[in-house]
Amino acid sequence: MHRLLSWCFSKKKSPPVYSADLNPTTRSLPEANKWILSEYILGKLIGIVGVHPYPLDELLLMCSTLAYFKPDMVIEWGTHYGKSARIFYEATTYLNLKTVIHTIDLPPTAEHCENIHNDSQRGLFIRNLPVIRHLGDGLTVARKIIAEVNPKLVLFFVDGDHSFASIRDELNGIKCMAPRAVVLVHDTFLQGSESGYNCGPYSAIKEFTAQHQLEYQATILGLPGMCLTYWL
Ligand SMILES: C[S@@+](CC[C@H](N)C(=O)[O-])C[C@H]1O[C@@H](n2cnc3c(N)ncnc32)[C@H](O)[C@@H]1O
Repeated sequence: MHRLLSWCFSKKKSPPVYSADLNPTTRSLPEANKWILSEYILGKLIGIVGVHPYPLDELLLMCSTLAYFKPDMVIEWGTHYGKSARIFYEATTYLNLKTVIHTIDLPPTAEHCENIHNDSQRGLFIRNLPVIRHLGDGLTVARKIIAEVNPKLVLFFVDGDHSFASIRDELNGIKCMAPRAVVLVHDTFLQGSESGYNCGPYSAIKEFTAQHQLEYQATILGLPGMCLTYWL
């Protein structure tokens, strides 16, 4: 702990010890070193991205997923202000990963209730950073990237349209295009159907993981909620 704290307050950029147990044969569940990652999140990441829309447990899940699976590529949609893309950029840098990060959003002219139409605000958090930006439908663009580059292991971050049908189709599309994949879905905390909010992602990932008999892990007890699933 002393070593961690002194690292936190020092100017060194790289982590002092590795931050995940990397042996899936001895672990039934992903097991990252959450103490080290927590120090990093509190000492650095929060200062850049805050805790909105990703609260502490979700930041930890995003960082732990990177630390454990070490994907060679992240493909995420939608970019919006670029907070999730920035989190992936910062955390892969901290973990010394060579992960290439792609982020996709609809064109500024597209009609979508969450689309940012003002170009100066789009991707604000990833401006001038080596995050590759694309315009278009997330699943369609992801298919093209995978066909061109053939990465070994992609972490998909699904945070575009939040209807049940969209997410169901996106998850099934990912399953078809990627023989191995790690998937995080955002906004999966289930509120009552009367809220009219956040019901689609929860139902879609529950159905998808049940159909394919996949591991499913989720943050709990509050909004917005994030789920992890994977097939390797
Ligand atoms: C909740 S915001 C995402 C927040 C973002 N991940 C962040 O960290 O700032 C949803 C975004 O998804 C985009 N979107 C909706 N449908 C999409 C699709 N089919 N493909 C790509 N992006 C989509 C919207 O334009 C919007 O910018």
